[in-house]
Amino acid sequence: DRGGDLPRDLAGRHVVVSAGGTREPLDPVRYLGNRSSGKQGYALARTAVARGARVTLVAANTALPDPAGADVVAVGSAEQLRRAVLAAAADADAVVMAAAVADFRPARYVDSKIKKRDGEGPAPLVLEQNPDVLAGLSAARPHPGLVVVGFAAETDDVLANGRAKLARKGCDLLVVNEVGEHTAFGTDDNQAVVLGADGTETPVPLGPKEALADRVWDLVAARLGGELR
Ligand code: CTP
Ligand code: CA
Repeated sequence: DRGGDLPRDLAGRHVVVSAGGTREPLDPVRYLGNRSSGKQGYALARTAVARGARVTLVAANTALPDPAGADVVAVGSAEQLRRAVLAAAADADAVVMAAAVADFRPARYVDSKIKKRDGEGPAPLVLEQNPDVLAGLSAARPHPGLVVVGFAAETDDVLANGRAKLARKGCDLLVVNEVGEHTAFGTDDNQAVVLGADGTETPVPLGPKEALADRVWDLVAARLGGELR
């Protein structure tokens, strides 16, 4: 319970949060997708609104109520998500990439429904890699004050894999979820460690996604410069 002592430390800030999971179309009725519910991203959007921020929520295929006070931009594919995030990032103070972005998409979109072919068996599915939105934004920031945050779910060697991913992505903070039975996909609770590019390590115990969201905003707020944009 954040009670009455809610910090308004994001007042005057614009933050962008991506949530959910992208779907990569194969034909008009089929896609490649993932199990991300969007709950962590929505919790980030709600807590940022509560702390006074203007919030753009880029929502990929979610089925959750719009957070009151956030501008919601609905997207489908990774390419649509990339465009929406980059457009909103232009005047943003922080971008938090909580969405599960598909690493690969079908190399070819077939614009009519793919049919079974008797006796021939299925055609192989050829994939190509999607651009990395987080790495691209970190490398080409619209302005140097932008704080960029990534998410990662790891099952083994959580800290070592997280550190390597943080370095590879070039972001300021990486929230590394420890995937277990009671955490991550579709659940209401998360356990994580937030790694900073400055070498810091902030463990967040198992608890509601709102609590992790608030810890992320604490760390973002500490990295924002004094000047309002
Ligand atoms: N991400 C992104 N664009 C992609 C893939 C991932 O912006 N094409 C972002 C995610 O939103 C997340 C972070 O990168 O914030 C880490 O995603 P993850 O899947 O853990 O990283 P990958 O580099 O794709 O590594 P892996 O091979 O483990 O999937
Ligand atoms: Ca990935």
